[in-house]
Amino acid sequence: MTYTRCWYHCHAATMKGGHYSVIEDAAIVVRGERIAWIGPREALPPGAAEAVDLGGAWVTPGLIDCHTHLAFAGERSAEFELRLLEGASYAEIAAHGGGIASTVRATRAASEEQLLDSALRRARQLLRDGVTCLEVKSGYGLDLPGERKLLRVARQLAGRLPLTVRATCLAAHALPPEYAGRADDYIAHVCDELLPALAEEGLVDAVDAYCEHLAFSPAQVERLFRAASALRLPVKLHAEQLSAQGGAQLAARYRALSADHLEYAGEADVAALAAAGTVAVLLPAAFYLLRERQLPPVEALRRHGVPMAVASDLNPGTAPVLSLRLMLAMACTSFGLTPEEALAGVTLHAARALGLVDSHGSLEVGKYADFVAWDIHRPAELAYWLGGELPRQVVFHGLEVTHG
Ligand code: NIG
Ligand code: FE
Repeated sequence: MTYTRCWYHCHAATMKGGHYSVIEDAAIVVRGERIAWIGPREALPPGAAEAVDLGGAWVTPGLIDCHTHLAFAGERSAEFELRLLEGASYAEIAAHGGGIASTVRATRAASEEQLLDSALRRARQLLRDGVTCLEVKSGYGLDLPGERKLLRVARQLAGRLPLTVRATCLAAHALPPEYAGRADDYIAHVCDELLPALAEEGLVDAVDAYCEHLAFSPAQVERLFRAASALRLPVKLHAEQLSAQGGAQLAARYRALSADHLEYAGEADVAALAAAGTVAVLLPAAFYLLRERQLPPVEALRRHGVPMAVASDLNPGTAPVLSLRLMLAMACTSFGLTPEEALAGVTLHAARALGLVDSHGSLEVGKYADFVAWDIHRPAELAYWLGGELPRQVVFHGLEVTHG
């Protein structure tokens, strides 16, 4: 057998099947960009290779952040202070022209270069903490030039950093000011013009919307989902975050890749997600930052066998998060996931939420050689430490990543 590189002297949490699926004293053989062999070192097939001694580190698949709004201009720490010091709610701030609308103003005013520059800085931080794949949503442009700028930034990130990037069109994130009082007209514009144009330009991997009382109704989202289906684009949805709207069942009806947030989802919603094979994406940072009390239905998700992903939701309003690993800790402490479930949530199930499960998310032959060697003694440490830098080495598509 010929291969290019071999990593050995490590323990692998392969995450096959969504469990640690540990291989003690493992070796990983890479040919080109893919895993050619993985197993116990003693069974390593003979073959010429450059070998890398990982010194007993634990290896996991590269982490996948399957829900981010990473491209935007400005920041909203003043709203953080308003919520803290004056008890203002997220919805109240949005109703007074703050919230998403304020980031839309800053983003529309920024150049593509400026947006790329700040997105690169944030993506590098995630990468240093073990991320090798992420999703980037638009949603702060809310018109064709603005959404195009954000999706182009998402596309360029992948060329500039050792990361796989999926670009999601979230034009239905909020109502832009020029459409005030005309939400149906805006949705029609998105369906008939904006989305087809961006899809035609090859900038869209999936379509998302914000189904909430302060954003779009299920009927409006359904119209968008029909337009997405006509363009053969998969859908996903911000559903039941602040109130029960019926978004989860709508997402299930359209076989969405994922339904995200889900704090207000009930048993029937979970059953529908299970039947549709839709991933539940849990976002503990927004829950924490908004000091929510309503917990997502984790026990029901488990009982119905709905795959649970965990993501940062990186955005300037509800989740200024620069570490996906910190989300493991929060998913365990706030939502009651086990460290094993949380790790599956940022690997295998996150890959599924992006439609990438055949090539990403676990250490298996044929998948991309994206993995992280961590300075830890047990995999549960990944959900246990708060902060710090634990990766000893990050490998993307078979090559060691050097952080700049
Ligand atoms: O996922 N829910 C809508 N979008 C974001 C918040 C975006 C913002 O406030 O800028 C979220 O929490
Ligand atoms: Fe979000």
